[in-house]
Amino acid sequence: MGLWRERFLPWLVDKGLSGDEHEALRAKAAAGLEGRVLEIGFGSGRNLAHLPEGVERVEAVEPASGGRRIAAERIAACPAEVRFAGESAEAVDLPDDSVDAALSTWTLCSVPDPARGLAEIRRVLKPGGRFHFLDHGLSPDPKVARWQRRLEPLQKLAFGGCRVQLPIDRLIVDAGFHVEQLETFYMKGPKFSCFMYSGVARID
Ligand SMILES: C[S@@+](CC[C@H](N)C(=O)[O-])C[C@H]1O[C@@H](n2cnc3c(N)ncnc32)[C@H](O)[C@@H]1O
Repeated sequence: MGLWRERFLPWLVDKGLSGDEHEALRAKAAAGLEGRVLEIGFGSGRNLAHLPEGVERVEAVEPASGGRRIAAERIAACPAEVRFAGESAEAVDLPDDSVDAALSTWTLCSVPDPARGLAEIRRVLKPGGRFHFLDHGLSPDPKVARWQRRLEPLQKLAFGGCRVQLPIDRLIVDAGFHVEQLETFYMKGPKFSCFMYSGVARID
């Protein structure tokens, strides 16, 4: 992993995905989590502040050491235990049926093989476990979708492989989840990168 992805991007993402609107969405995504929770793309640990009291342990998966470094103070301040369970959502270092819930915020867009990452989440979730997701992706507006197609190569280059035209809900359903809650909306900012999917999916 190059210096940009490893060191600078985690810092940029930590600053960029902050502020009132982002924090409110993080709080919503974390609501209802409990027990042992897998978080893929843990980043700089910005979701820790939003975890409900019922969360006992976070199994964090994060490839960038820069993110893990920024997270250190947040981990120390977090009442839940935090441990790292690998560096890739596509190969989570946990046994089958071992977590009560899973969380992903602005991460499926960056995972090179999101179908594999989702299959891993399914594998480690206990039966009935829930996946809380928040991500940007494909807009239903053809005009915006055209800009997403044009600008995705630049987005990928600048933001560590981040894609803007993934159909997040379809990927989750195709991975065998049942989507229980889903909201789609634009966040503030350029429409091509701000069409959001926020929700909860369950495995049966
Ligand atoms: C846009 S950042 C979001 C970070 C964090 N989830 C947040 O909400 O602030 C995307 C994150 O996905 C991580 N990532 C990239 N490839 C990954 C992979 N294969 N498995 C897990 N995480 C990955 C990046 O290192 C980065 O921390």
